[in-house]
Amino acid sequence: MKPTKPITLIAVLLFQSLLLVAQDARLQIDLTKNVNEIQPTMYGIFFEDINFAADGGLYAEMVKNRSFEFTIAPFMGWHQPKTNRYSLNEKSGMASVVKHKEGSGNKNFCRVTINDASGYELINEGFRGMGIKENAVYNVYLSALNKSGNISEITLQLITKNGDVLGETKIETSSANWKDYQAQITVSKTEEEAQLKLTFKGTGVIDLDMISMFPVDTWKGREKGLRKDLVQLLYDLKPGFLRFPGGCVVEGRTLERRYQWKKTVGDVEDRELLVNRWNTEFSHKAAPDYYQSFGIGFYEYFQLSEDLGAEPLPILGCGMACQFNTGELAPLEELDPYVQDAIDLIEFANGDATTTWGKLRTDMGHPEPFNLKYVGIGNEQWGPDYIDRYKIFAEKIKAQHPEIIIVSGSGPFPDGEQFEYGWKELKKLDAEIVDEHYYRPPQWFLENAGRYDDYDRNGPKVFAGEYAAHPKGVSDGNTENNWEAALSEAAFMTGLERNADVVVMTSYAPLMAHINAFQWAPDMIWFNNLESYGTANYQVQKLYSNNAGTHTVSLTQNGKNVIGSDGLYASAVKDVSTKTLIIKIANTSKSNKSLSFSVNGASLKRNATITTIENTDLKAYNDFDNPEKVSPKSSNIKVKRKAINVQIPQQSFSVVKIKI
Ligand code: AHR
Repeated sequence: MKPTKPITLIAVLLFQSLLLVAQDARLQIDLTKNVNEIQPTMYGIFFEDINFAADGGLYAEMVKNRSFEFTIAPFMGWHQPKTNRYSLNEKSGMASVVKHKEGSGNKNFCRVTINDASGYELINEGFRGMGIKENAVYNVYLSALNKSGNISEITLQLITKNGDVLGETKIETSSANWKDYQAQITVSKTEEEAQLKLTFKGTGVIDLDMISMFPVDTWKGREKGLRKDLVQLLYDLKPGFLRFPGGCVVEGRTLERRYQWKKTVGDVEDRELLVNRWNTEFSHKAAPDYYQSFGIGFYEYFQLSEDLGAEPLPILGCGMACQFNTGELAPLEELDPYVQDAIDLIEFANGDATTTWGKLRTDMGHPEPFNLKYVGIGNEQWGPDYIDRYKIFAEKIKAQHPEIIIVSGSGPFPDGEQFEYGWKELKKLDAEIVDEHYYRPPQWFLENAGRYDDYDRNGPKVFAGEYAAHPKGVSDGNTENNWEAALSEAAFMTGLERNADVVVMTSYAPLMAHINAFQWAPDMIWFNNLESYGTANYQVQKLYSNNAGTHTVSLTQNGKNVIGSDGLYASAVKDVSTKTLIIKIANTSKSNKSLSFSVNGASLKRNATITTIENTDLKAYNDFDNPEKVSPKSSNIKVKRKAINVQIPQQSFSVVKIKI
């Protein structure tokens, strides 16, 4: 081989790699310009009980229909021996649902007649099964009343679909009055779709209610609490606020089926269950077994906000059922109870123990106020009917609580007649914060990264309350959370950040989805009965919220904001408490870029870090087998006192942090 050959090869490779690096872009950062405060609420989370996010998800209850209250089919989720598809095997025994307490949240119980204990079993299927882990301990609870006969013991077993027993416990029953029992099961083997089986000793009749099972290991170890892995994912986002309980569940398909916070507080077993409005909303994803037990009610939402260090942001119905369904209206002259609910909620959150609702909060275990500062009126209502109702709510709430900031809405779409009308009227009414929703294709997000640059600085502030890039449609599940969508959101969010003087709250939506029980996709977090992971979109949100900064600063290219020229989107903030300059760069192009930033207004320390999410495959997405396929990697870089040079890969999102 001639000695010149390797040299030629190296030269060619060098030339090729130079070609891959597109022409330098020179950008300018000025820490003395465009300096606006970024609200601590800038990046928050939107929680709605959609996709089994609460029951079957965050709420760690594993028994579905634990108190036999499912209104359409009170025995749903439970199984007992049958001789064929249509008839029960009554020779061994039979269970039936009995209505006992009208007017209470817990109306029904289950009456079990045992004729031959050896042939009878009562099985709960869980929420698409029950996820149980090897060596983990589970608390089981039930209420029982021995009505007649000699039933002396109930055996509770965790079984596989094939009937293999993975753990069991026994409860002795003898009381002729309702009595609560509790026991523990330790599990011998991990199983994603276990079931809970009850068998009986003796014959006779026994009444059962509130048959319930929770892992001992919940978030903060709270008994009957929340799923630890899911709350941890939320906690890691460091959210500035928690919006709850939705979403459309706020409104209900009819007014009767709206979310009423007063029915979600107090003793859990007395909370009146409601059919979840998402149960059959989408025929391709019907979930007739989807109910709201309100195990997570308003107390738990406030408590979760506190745990996360997030401002609570309850959204309340305004006397309008979902306009995509019935659009039923409470007449204006009958709006008082709805407004009163809002005023009472402020008392529940902030009042002391001498007030009615403050006392309830105290009795529930939280004497300190929850420091509620925001209330949202209506979810995504539109038109004059909304404005008429908003006006009444705003006047009455402000009259009693001028300190509360009211969030209003501009409808379900980011533009169009309804949106324009809503904004025009809300401006006239001096609304404080207006909620905007946009579920749009990734391209829309790229094209709208400058959306807020020209917003009126003297009008209401903006809450980007529900948004997500939708590559296709809801039925594709977790593949919808691909890198194309997440990168387009990252690019768009440079515009949210740059305009933090007018955009004061933002939240991706929806937050969570059960892989076997979802109605809507994409979603930020996916889970099954055992595991959970953050999507590419989650990783983008986390990079923003963990690097939010305290003030915007100017970042331009030739005097213009960086919005898509050559596929680049960028913004910068400083954090005055940590003395850090933070630059966000989305490169949506298919070429690597060598960028140089000149910095005015501060001198830079030598060492900096760059954290990058990249993937050349825009269809790439995280899943249970590869939960970190699209996730950030960090490295150190050196910078000059007044300049930063960084190599930005194609189709990537980066956060550069430098001490100043
Ligand atoms: O996030 C899913 C739904 O989208 C919300 O419930 C609703 O507000 C919006 O239409």
